[in-house]
Amino acid sequence: MKKLEVAIVGFGFMGRTHYGVWKKLRNARVACVCDSNLAQIKAKTKGNLNVADDSDLPPSVRVYDNFDKMLAAEKLDVVDITLPTPLHAPMAIQALNRGLNVLCEKPMSIDAKTCDRMVAAARKAKGKLMVAQCVRYWPEHRVLESYIRSGKFGRVIAADFTRFSPAPGWNRGGSCWFLDEKKSGGVALDMHLHDTDEIHHLFGLPKQVISHSHCHKDGWTDFISTTYGYSDKVVTASSSWAMAPSFVWESGFRVVFERAVVVANSHAATPLIVYPEKGKPFSPKLPKPSGYETEIRTFAAWVGGDAKVAPVTAESARDSVAIVDAERKSARTGKPVRLVRDPLGHTSRLDRTRTRRRLLFGQGEQSSSI
Ligand SMILES: NC(=O)c1ccc[n+]([C@@H]2O[C@H](COP(=O)([O-])OP(=O)(O)OC[C@H]3O[C@@H](n4cnc5c(N)ncnc54)[C@H](O)[C@@H]3O)[C@@H](O)[C@H]2O)c1
Repeated sequence: MKKLEVAIVGFGFMGRTHYGVWKKLRNARVACVCDSNLAQIKAKTKGNLNVADDSDLPPSVRVYDNFDKMLAAEKLDVVDITLPTPLHAPMAIQALNRGLNVLCEKPMSIDAKTCDRMVAAARKAKGKLMVAQCVRYWPEHRVLESYIRSGKFGRVIAADFTRFSPAPGWNRGGSCWFLDEKKSGGVALDMHLHDTDEIHHLFGLPKQVISHSHCHKDGWTDFISTTYGYSDKVVTASSSWAMAPSFVWESGFRVVFERAVVVANSHAATPLIVYPEKGKPFSPKLPKPSGYETEIRTFAAWVGGDAKVAPVTAESARDSVAIVDAERKSARTGKPVRLVRDPLGHTSRLDRTRTRRRLLFGQGEQSSSI
């Protein structure tokens, strides 16, 4: 079996996290890594979770400090983009235009308009594009999804998702691109997007969003809370970068079904508990492996031809960014923002879709057309 030749571009926190997973895959090999700051190759990287692989690279992994040089020199199958967000679109498009498969970290790009360029490039490309919306693969979320899709506990009445962290810069030695809202999109796009995407994935496109946010004294958004408009359930999510540095990252959800309540909390000794209508609370067995590993294995299987349909379609990742665009607009204006899909487009399968699709938001305002 020929192994997928993989390049990881951007060798910071997520680059090293993906590296640790790619190393485990029997059908792939990390051929090279690229980082414009070569000091990163030996750095002991810190992020908000203890997941990065800090081991030294073996001599078989070639190192580049320039993306163009790497593309010219290497025969690759996969480019794995773990770069700061503004670089996702240009580098993903460049790799797709060369016929390569691309795994791109979330958020897909800085706004939906830029995501549209990636969707267009992916539709023309020989290679495949998947955005790494890892929460869809998180064990607790996979169990929740199975309850929702199977209807085991009836329909969902209400769902609340939370994600709380100190600001990203605190453990990165001061200066940090995440705190420049033009580069990261602030807490709304960088972190809250995880839950927006999960809500979109589980419940479909909301009719509207109403958001409130708080701005840090240095100008970046450090808290956002949103109510997503669905006709048959109440869905809310909040994310914070305003927690004190001593606060340990916390994420979770509380989903009220007709016949059970399902609660996940990363701080709890038992991370997932089901409180059924009848009988005692229980902790479902969580699927293995980890969210990051399942995500990358799923992408590798898709690229290798084991799955026909995109695991995370480019269109759905793009629409999740469009919802966050609407949330940011609602928080800015203090008004609800409507989200409307035109009657032509309901499929979001990248492999099948050739129809024009529009996701509109605001009073008669068109965000984009694909
Ligand atoms: N899925 C998740 O759970 C998760 C978690 C954290 C971050 N992220 C996302 O992953 C992406 C990367 O975040 P991070 O925390 O790894 O950032 P980081 O700052 O730790 O790493 C980015 C790396 O890219 C390198 N880089 C910058 N410009 C470059 C260029 N032109 N060419 C090559 N390398 C370049 C930097 O030197 C740095 O090493 C972001 O989009 C972020 O939102 C996702």
